[in-house]
Amino acid sequence: KILILDFGSQYTQLIARRVRELNVYCEIHPFNNPPVIDESIKGVILSGSPFSVRDEKAPIPNLLEIKGKLPLLGVCYGAQHLAHCFGGEVMASNKREYGRANLTSVNSSNELLKGISLNSQVWMSHGDTIEKMPSNFKVIASTSDVENAAFEIEGETAYGIQFHPEVYHTTEGSILLKNYIVGICGCQQNWTPDAFVETTVAELKEKLGDDRVILGLSGGVDSTVAAMLVHKAIGKNLYCIFVDNGLLRKNEFTDVLKKYETLGLNVIGVDAGEKFISALAGVTDPETKRKIIGNAFIEVFDAESHKVKNAKWLGQGTIYPDVIESVSVNGGPSQTIKSHHNVGGLPDFMKLKVVEPLKLLFKDEVRRVGKSMGLEDKFISRHPFPGPGLGIRILGDVTAEKVRILQEVDHIFISGLVEDGLYNEVWQAGAMLLPVQSVGVMGDERTYESVVALRAVGSTDGMTADWSHLPYEFLAKISNKIINGVKGVNRVVYDISSKPPATIEWE
Ligand code: XMP
Repeated sequence: KILILDFGSQYTQLIARRVRELNVYCEIHPFNNPPVIDESIKGVILSGSPFSVRDEKAPIPNLLEIKGKLPLLGVCYGAQHLAHCFGGEVMASNKREYGRANLTSVNSSNELLKGISLNSQVWMSHGDTIEKMPSNFKVIASTSDVENAAFEIEGETAYGIQFHPEVYHTTEGSILLKNYIVGICGCQQNWTPDAFVETTVAELKEKLGDDRVILGLSGGVDSTVAAMLVHKAIGKNLYCIFVDNGLLRKNEFTDVLKKYETLGLNVIGVDAGEKFISALAGVTDPETKRKIIGNAFIEVFDAESHKVKNAKWLGQGTIYPDVIESVSVNGGPSQTIKSHHNVGGLPDFMKLKVVEPLKLLFKDEVRRVGKSMGLEDKFISRHPFPGPGLGIRILGDVTAEKVRILQEVDHIFISGLVEDGLYNEVWQAGAMLLPVQSVGVMGDERTYESVVALRAVGSTDGMTADWSHLPYEFLAKISNKIINGVKGVNRVVYDISSKPPATIEWE
C-alpha cells in the first residue's frame, strides 16, 4: 500500500482517490500520528498544506524511517518541506503561482516523468517557492515562473513536485502518479471492487463467525452495500431494520423494501410513521425537530433490535471520509474519531460491537463495489436524502397532511427529472413546503393556498453547491403539473441560491 502523510491540504483526499483509481490501496494518516512503517508500505506521499514551511507552527513530520529507506514523493508543501529541511531555501514568491502553468522543460528520461510531454499543463497552488535547492537535489521539470517545479534527490528514490498531480487540471497528473506508484514503488494494481468484495467477505466471515448482526438500512447506497457485504458473509444471521419514519418520499418505503427483498436481505420493515408525526406535533424549531426525529429513530430501532435474540454486532455503513483523522489547523494534536461502543447510558443496540465493512472506501468506491455485487445503476445513482427526511423540508410544524402534499410535489418533480433525462445531471433535488399561503385564482375562484419551493443543486460532496440551471421549459412544465395536480398548492418558486451562503436544505 501507499502511505499518504497529511499536512492538512484540501487536496489530500483527492490524492488518495487518484491512487485508488490506479487500483492501488492507500491510507491517509496525519503527519504527526503515522502508522508503524512496515513492509506493507511500498511508498510514501507527503501532501500539501495550508501552512508555509516558514511558519512557526509549520507541520514537521518525522521522516527518519522513511527518507532514504522508502520511495518518497513530496507534493507542494511536501516538496517544499524536503527542500527547506535538507539545506535549500524556500521563500515567499513574488509572482502569482496559482492556477494553470505549462512545463517548459521536462526530463522525460526520469522515471517519475516518463511519458509527460513538454508543455504539459500543470496546476499550481502555492504562495511559497523553492528559491535555492540543496546541492543533491536535481531539477527535473520547470515552468516559466517556477524553475524548481519538480526535483529528484540524488542517491535516493525521493522526489518533489511543486504542482498538484491529483487535480483534474494537471492533465497528465495520473501518468505521473502511475509512474511513481507502479513504476517506482512497485505496487501491484490489484485493489479492484471484485478483490475488495472477496477479501472483505472472507474477513467478515472470520470476524463474525456464527454471530448475529443487526444493521439499520436507510434506503441509501452506503447502508445497502454494507448490508450486501455482511449478508454475503453470514447470510440469514444478518437482521436488517428499515424504519418508515413517515417522512420518506412517496412510495419509498414499499419500493425500497421490495428492492431489499430481491437482493435477498432479511429485512424487518417497521412502519412507525404515526409515532414520528405525533412526536413532531406543534414543533417548529428546526434543530428541535431534528432531535425529535433522531430520538424517535433510536427508540424504534432499539425496540426492534431487542426482538433479535443474542445479537452481538451492529453493522454500519460508515465510509472512509468519516474516519480519516483530521489534521487540526493550529498544528496541535489531531482529533481521533471514536466509535461509541461499550459506553454506559446508551440504548442497548449501541452497546453492541461495531462492524463497518465500508470504512476504508470513498463514496465512488462504495458505488463500484455495489455495482460489482449486482446493484443496479438506478439504485446506485440515487440522490442523497437527509435522515430527517421531509421533516426538515416542511418548514415549521409537521402534520400528516403536509407530508402528503409534499410527497406529491416531490414525486412530480423527481419523476419529471427522470423522464427528461435530467436526474443524473443534478446532484440532489427536492421540494420544500413553505409556511406561507398566497393568493391565487383558479377558474373564477380566489384561492389562498401553500407555496412550494423546488431546489436542485450541483455538488460533489454537499459541502459547497450551486443551483442547477434547469431548462425553463422543464420548470414551466413541472410548475403546471404541481399546481394542477396537488390540491393545497397554488404557487411554485425555484431556489436560485448557492451554498455558501445558503444551505441545500432550508432547515
Ligand atoms: P445542507 O442543508 O447542510 O445539507 O447544505 C448538506 C447535505 O446534507 C444533507 N443533510 C442531512 N443529512 N441529516 C442527514 O442525514 C440531517 O440532519 C441533514 N441535514 C442536511 C442534505 O440533504 C445535503 O445532502
